Amino acid sequence: MICLRHVSHNFGGHWALKNISLDLGKREFLFLVGPSGAGKTTLLRILHGAIALQRGQATVCGFDLRALKPRTIPLLRRQVSVVFQDFKILPRRTAFANVALALEVQGMSRPLLERRVRAVLRSLDLEPKAHIPCAELSGGEQQRVAVARAVVVGPQLLLADEPTGNLDRELAMRLMSIFLQFHAHGSTIILATHNQELLSCLPEAKILHLENGAIVWSNWPLGE
Ligand SMILES: Nc1ncnc2c1ncn2[C@@H]1O[C@H](COP(=O)(O)OP(=O)(O)O)[C@@H](O)[C@H]1O
Ligand SMILES: [Mg+2]
Repeated sequence: MICLRHVSHNFGGHWALKNISLDLGKREFLFLVGPSGAGKTTLLRILHGAIALQRGQATVCGFDLRALKPRTIPLLRRQVSVVFQDFKILPRRTAFANVALALEVQGMSRPLLERRVRAVLRSLDLEPKAHIPCAELSGGEQQRVAVARAVVVGPQLLLADEPTGNLDRELAMRLMSIFLQFHAHGSTIILATHNQELLSCLPEAKILHLENGAIVWSNWPLGE
């Protein structure tokens, strides 16, 4: 699913990632941990093609990131979805519209799209709020809209960048149980988090600890 070899990334003279090598198979759950500034977001952004690979080799869902072209990025994004910490949902659009957008850009037929969106909103307990502008939803509900939008496309790989960072404990645990459900249905998930408590929700998960852009610890043998 993911194969990284000697991946490094430099922002204006600062190495945000240093020589990252790892393999991650299908149906894995990976917690990406480490302090703020460790490089977690940079790694996730490289994995979904938001920033170009500068150094090293990377394959994600069969895409060679070194050969990624503007026209292949949408194809990668069909396989790799992201839940951002700050949601990045459209506040004036409804929950339904935000989730539907991900399928509209794929050109899905309207009846199928409506069925898919409803099913995902239902699974996340959002159906009663489907037609309310997102700005009027609570933080936890907005975060669930962001998750719904990411999963509605049926991604092979789901990346979540500190998705519980703005939530209280109960909502964080609820969101975690949603990720566990998607994992149980066969998705590969990488979840970047500060929250140690989340790690105990899935003891068999893989854990990668980054500091200053480098891997300092992992609980499984890394590639090469
Ligand atoms: N767009 C950017 N421009 C310049 N420096 C950046 C940019 N994004 C991240 N960095 C730097 O790269 C390092 C890693 O950041 P980041 O990947 O956001 O870490 P984390 O998500 O673990 O907090 C930090 O030192 C950060 O300041
Ligand atoms: Mg970050």
